[in-house]
Amino acid sequence: AARRPLDLTAVLDGTLPAAGTAVTCPARAGVLGVLRTARAEHPSWDVRCLDLETAGDVEPEAGAETVLRAPSGHPVLARRAGRWLTQVFRPLPDGTGQIAASPWRPRGVHLIAGGAGGIGYALSRHLARTTAADVVWLGRRPATDAAVTERLAAVEAAGGRARYVQGDVSRPDDVRAALAVAHASFGPVTTAVHAALDLRDRTLAFAAADDLRSAMLAKDRGVRVLHEVLRDEPLDHFVLFSSAVSAIDSPGQAAYAAASTVEDALGRALHARGPVPVTVVNWGYWGSVGAVADPRRARAMAETGVGSIEPADGFAALERILAARTPQALVARATPRALRELGLVVEEAAAGKPVAEDTFVGEAVVGEAVSLEAESVAGKDPLDTLAGALLAAELTAAGALPAPGERLPAATTAQRLAVQPAHRRLFEALLPVLERAGAVRR
Ligand SMILES: NC(=O)c1ccc[n+]([C@@H]2O[C@H](COP(=O)([O-])OP(=O)(O)OC[C@H]3O[C@@H](n4cnc5c(N)ncnc54)[C@H](OP(=O)(O)O)[C@@H]3O)[C@@H](O)[C@H]2O)c1
Repeated sequence: AARRPLDLTAVLDGTLPAAGTAVTCPARAGVLGVLRTARAEHPSWDVRCLDLETAGDVEPEAGAETVLRAPSGHPVLARRAGRWLTQVFRPLPDGTGQIAASPWRPRGVHLIAGGAGGIGYALSRHLARTTAADVVWLGRRPATDAAVTERLAAVEAAGGRARYVQGDVSRPDDVRAALAVAHASFGPVTTAVHAALDLRDRTLAFAAADDLRSAMLAKDRGVRVLHEVLRDEPLDHFVLFSSAVSAIDSPGQAAYAAASTVEDALGRALHARGPVPVTVVNWGYWGSVGAVADPRRARAMAETGVGSIEPADGFAALERILAARTPQALVARATPRALRELGLVVEEAAAGKPVAEDTFVGEAVVGEAVSLEAESVAGKDPLDTLAGALLAAELTAAGALPAPGERLPAATTAQRLAVQPAHRRLFEALLPVLERAGAVRR
């Protein structure tokens, strides 16, 4: 169906905490992520997910009729008490969580699944420096890995103590082994962080079941196992590092989006169950550390109005969220326009604008929507803009684009790139993409 129009509606229940209802079927929430990606990859499809209310308040006689009459144009809708609700983000009010006391106890013991990775390691150093923390990392690579040993040493140099346990967070025995190391080396665990991910980016046309399974294993099963094994620990915080991808339509990320929407739903269900204080943080883009840190991507993102969350700002936001005891928060560094283009609806709380009748203000909040100085590139389709920016970066690095102010025949650019005759049409087709990205003017 890739090339023809298609109407695709998923009818679910128990996946969204809309209007204060319980998330009863977190695993099903993966459908939201997969279909949002399908929507992004197939603009000619009309794709949406409807989360109907579970037992009690459904309108059984109107079931099919209700589904068919759902308002179009929304990727995700929840039906509660006879109304359709969409997700709206509310900015964390100024001052929320800005208290004198840190949410971290001094010399706390932090078990971090994925702790040797980019953000986990940066958080560990931050905690070592500010609270003389003890950290235990769980990761699949061997303890002899050079990056692991270097990073352990850096945490110790920053004033903490650090251990690494080789294992998989989706395997109970491995998590128990990490817990045993924490107990033997430092004592009871006071914070658990789930920061593991298995990124399997592929468009749906090329994605295999195995991609979905692996992405899910790290997050869905990983969160459940970590929560279960640590249930008797005196936890101040149980933090899930999820992604903003679960709130947007992101092409090429079906597996990761599904894992993230499940992680969110699971976090909300576990938060409601208590007593362990579970918090979901949906991170936006980190450009200097982590799985997708590279300067070229960061530049391209900046051109679309999305900036890099840097460790100092990210952890300041995290501390505000934890201090505020918010169950879920999205942290992004982006211009309001970029948020809009990504489809994130942010309530204009400051202006005191009333929320439209048919919208639902979720408990999820935007922690930090910071304006960037980078100019947004003109262009309506964010994917086209991003593709153009990446292409421009590539051609600039290859020395094929004219210098600022320089005029160059297109043929010269083709020569510099040694474009083969068979690729000549592709080259011609890419020029308008560059033009729309603002990289050249013809
Ligand atoms: N970077 C971003 O821009 C960004 C944005 C949104 C959300 N996040 C979230 O932030 C968290 C950290 O991301 P990151 O950028 O720091 O990623 P990263 O650098 O790739 O680190 C992730 C770590 O998880 C470990 N891991 C993966 N699967 C595991 C498993 N099954 N069991 C145990 N460990 C496992 C990996 O080590 P091994 O391979 O050795 O196991 C790796 O060290 C993730 O939860 C991610 O979803 C990141």
